[in-house]
Order: sequence, then C-alpha cells, then structure tokens
Amino acid sequence: MTLATDRLRPLFPALAREHAGREAVYFDGPAGTQTPIAVIDAIGNYLRRCNANHGGLFATSRESDQLLHETHEAVAALLGADDPDTVSFGANMTTLTFAFSRALSRTWAPGDEVIVTRLDHDANVTPWTLAARDAGATVKTVELTESLTLDIEDFRSKLSERTKLVAVGAASNSTGAINPVRAIADAAHAAGALVFVDAVHYAPHQLLDVRQMDCDFLACSAYKFFGPHVGILWGRREWMESLEPYKVRPAANRIPDRWMTGTQNHECLAGVKAAVEYLAEVAALAGDSVVAATAPLRERLVESYRHIQEHERSLCGRLLAGIAELPAIRVWGEADPQRQEARVSTLSITHRERSSTDVATHLAERGVFAWNGNYYALNLTESLGLEPDGMVRLGIVHYNTEEEVDYVLSCLREL
Ligand SMILES: Cc1ncc(COP(=O)(O)O)c(C=O)c1O
Repeated sequence: MTLATDRLRPLFPALAREHAGREAVYFDGPAGTQTPIAVIDAIGNYLRRCNANHGGLFATSRESDQLLHETHEAVAALLGADDPDTVSFGANMTTLTFAFSRALSRTWAPGDEVIVTRLDHDANVTPWTLAARDAGATVKTVELTESLTLDIEDFRSKLSERTKLVAVGAASNSTGAINPVRAIADAAHAAGALVFVDAVHYAPHQLLDVRQMDCDFLACSAYKFFGPHVGILWGRREWMESLEPYKVRPAANRIPDRWMTGTQNHECLAGVKAAVEYLAEVAALAGDSVVAATAPLRERLVESYRHIQEHERSLCGRLLAGIAELPAIRVWGEADPQRQEARVSTLSITHRERSSTDVATHLAERGVFAWNGNYYALNLTESLGLEPDGMVRLGIVHYNTEEEVDYVLSCLREL
C-alpha cells in the first residue's frame, strides 16, 4: 500500500523545486527532511503575533508560555510519554547530548563502564567517550555481526555490574537497521545500567514509544521529522529531577526548565508543534483515515505512522529489488526486499568501480539529492574500511514516490 502522495506533496513547497529539467528528488531526508507549509506558517506566525521571552505577565509572554507548554505536550504524545515536563528542548541532539553527558557522568567513578556501539552516529558515541574520560570510566564498544547488525552476544558479554550506561541508536542512519532496543534495555536494567537512546533516525519512520522501549533517556531532532532545527531530550522524571544539570542560578530548577539552558528558539518550537500535528494528520490528509479528527493526538499519530510505514516499506522494497539487478552496486546491511521489518527505508550503497563522490555527483547532476560520506556514523565506515570516501545514502521518507524510486534506479543503471 502507498500513501496518496499527490495530496501530501503540494503541502511541502520545497518539493516543487526543479533541477535538471524535472522535480528534484529529495532522497536526503536522513540529513534533514523538508517542511510542510503548516510548519513554515507556524514559525512566521509566532514571530508576527507573540514573539516574546517567557515568564512575563504581559499578553505576548503569556501566549508564548502557552505555546511552549503545548509543544511539550505534543512532543510527549509523539514520544509516547505521559508527562510533558519530561521533554526538554535545545539546539540539536548533539548539543543536548553533550550537556546531558556532563551531568550524568558526575555519577560515574573510575572503574565504571559505559557501552557504545559500532553502528551509532558519533553524537551518541563521542559525548559518552569524553564524559567517561573525564570521570575515569572505561568505554566498551558493541561490535557488529556479518550482516552489520548489532552483535547482541557481544553486547551481553560486555555488560556487567560495572556498566553505568548503555548508549544505543533506535535505527542506524547509515544502514537503516533497527536495533532491538527493548531487549538491550531489559538486559541493561538487569545489570543495573541506564539506557540512552538516539532516536534521531528512527523518528520520521516509526512511532516512538518510550514506555515500550523502556529506555531511561531518549534524544531526537525535529528537523528529521518535518519540523525545524530543534533538539529534543526526554528522560524519566526521577532522573531529570535528581541529576544535577549545568545551569545558571536564576533559571528555574524545576523540570523541564533546568535542562533548557538559555532562551529557547520559540518560533521554531511553534514549528515543532506544527510538525507533530502535521504527522498526526498524514492519514487524514492522504484521504485514508478511519480515526476521527477529534481523537487524541497519540491515536492519530498511531494511524498516520501505520500508513507512513507501509508506504516507506513498499518504496524501499522496490528500491532494493531494483538494486538487486545492478551487480556493480552493493547495499551495506540488510538488502532483502522481503525483510523490511528489520530496517527503516534508508540504504547505504557503494559502486564496484566508482567512488561514492562520483556516484553522488552523478545523482546530483540529475536532480537526485543524496548524501555521500560517513554521515557521522564514523565507527561504522572506519570498521568497514570505507574511509575517507564512505558510501552513498538513499533515504526514503513518506513524501517520496514510486516514480522517484524508478528514476533513481534509472540514474544508478547509467553508472
Ligand atoms: C542518528 C543520528 N543521531 C544524531 C544526529 C545528530 O543530530 P543533530 O544534528 O540534531 O545534532 C544525527 C544527525 O544526522 C543522526 O542522524
């Protein structure tokens, strides 16, 4: 089943951009998705109507406070969290994770251990490595299986009563592999460790559920799910209240304020709320909704993400099946079009004879916007011996179409 993208695409002004005599093909979603007009309008309207700092007694400040509160509620619904105060915002996932790692590592001591993975984006590796170094703790790295999934046996062998934190991604921004976060969290908790999940890559593809994942902390970024550049950090209330953040004295010490340093990007927070609302409306906008428009946000998100997932799986299966007929191209990680449950719709490829820079240039000249390099999943490209040229990433999100997949395949065939 595919989504009625002809109804959704006109809502994204950027998608009308032309390049090389045709509509540009945005396969760069993993590095940042395009935004619907509702998000763009929400940002502009905030600046037009109630631009003010928060906490004042006058109308624009009160309206700003109300809007910020509604954004916390909307993002809590997106994460499956029942408490909007457990959601904090900041510049981006990397900045939030660096700040949070400093606070969390105050609870570590020499001899303690931290586990990161070979598959993660560096934003979920280096903040923990540096924090561990400062605390005198040791870092262990979970290795990969031959099919480039996390080696769970290796993870279990590295987990011990000395482990304080396991930092793992929900999905790889390189191979698209979905990691077994719940099983990892169960094992980590049994050993007395906490779990930090990088959900940046997962969030546009599958509905997050912090309760189901049973993680302790989770970070993501709104610009990867059709919103503006804002980072998101969620944490269990008991930890967000008890850990000691680096903050200025006059800032409130209650959650979430104690984690939100400085003045926030209010206009973009208005855009984040609009992005979550857009996601909740995807099924209805595509004319395929059985859930009432008045149903709770989370219920509408569940329905929309079901459609998004089916659409992306159909397109990704088509892309994988097409690539299977091109012997010069290698897919890194899961390449079976029938095994979609193991991945999100992001693939990394290399060409037998052409560099990744060449392949990405060839695509760019034909109006296909796709990334090449390591996309900061540096542990992975280093261990595969793919530095410095890296791979080419083909990222499908719900606004992409079958016709675009066929066009990208025809461009790859020319190589
Ligand atoms: C999987 C993953 N984690 C973390 C990040 C870093 O996010 P941010 O740009 O919000 O710092 C990215 C960005 O590409 C990512 O793809």
